[in-house]
Amino acid sequence: MGILQELKYYLKSQSNSIPQYILEQSIMTVLGGLPSLVGIGLRGIAYKAILKSDGIPLIEHNVRLLSPSNIRLGKQVYLDSQVYLNALPGGITIGEGTNLMHGTIFHTFNYRGLPHAGIFTGKNCFFGEYTCIRGQGGVHIGDGVYTGTQVQIAAVNHVYDDPDKFIKDQGITAEGITIEDDVWLGSGVIVVDGVTIGKGSIVGAGAVVTKSLPPYSVAVGVPAKIVKDRREAAAVRQQVATQIHYGELEQLRS
Ligand SMILES: CC(C)(COP(=O)(O)OP(=O)(O)OC[C@H]1O[C@@H](n2cnc3c(N)ncnc32)[C@H](O)[C@@H]1OP(=O)(O)O)[C@@H](O)C(=O)NCCC(=O)NCCS
Repeated sequence: MGILQELKYYLKSQSNSIPQYILEQSIMTVLGGLPSLVGIGLRGIAYKAILKSDGIPLIEHNVRLLSPSNIRLGKQVYLDSQVYLNALPGGITIGEGTNLMHGTIFHTFNYRGLPHAGIFTGKNCFFGEYTCIRGQGGVHIGDGVYTGTQVQIAAVNHVYDDPDKFIKDQGITAEGITIEDDVWLGSGVIVVDGVTIGKGSIVGAGAVVTKSLPPYSVAVGVPAKIVKDRREAAAVRQQVATQIHYGELEQLRS
């Protein structure tokens, strides 16, 4: 590949057009690193010129956005510092009131023109630190979904049929992943392509989800196996009321 082609490829992976690239990079260079409420306020206004937002987005310093014109944010979305959103074609939509904590990565990874690529979250979700989502086959997340730290959701698999060929040269499959409303994924959970996690389910820390889970499952382990159904009385954990914590800060937002 010649240098001009390399440059064209690079720019296409960064933005939708060259004028847009210049505008996006100028705004992000000037304001991207500014800390404190001043930085959040200025980015909240200026970034509306480079991405789609229903309200004033709350964006901390050092958030990295690529192809931001393919990003849609609902009202009161919060992006903590070091969040990285790469919204190649297919795009990223984040629902109202959703928080992405430090180091979270949403990457559509659509370098191959995949028809269903994209990452879509519902309202009031929470993504714990360093959660990473790859959206080649499309990742659809419902309302109120909560992830612990370092959760990985990867809507892609590499083809490996030919042992005489490099795996990286054999193409990919990308079916997509659906996570329905009110799901809690514990820290370190990995969800592989083609899986649907039913409404109200819980996946224990460190599990690898390789098969779909029906609604209200509690699943643990590698590969994840269902150990309970949340709707059955026997499955309900007896919580001592004094051990359940709701904080003042939480109440401020409710
Ligand atoms: C899945 C979880 C919610 C289960 O809680 P619970 O309803 O109290 O379930 P129990 O403790 O009764 O566990 C049921 C069985 O699953 C096992 N189990 C529970 N969590 C497990 C896990 N993460 N990995 C493997 N096995 C697990 C238990 O050992 C028990 O097995 P047993 O019946 O053979 O003794 C909890 O263990 C968990 O993993 N929480 C995630 C914590 C986290 O990541 N927090 C970060 C902030 S989001």
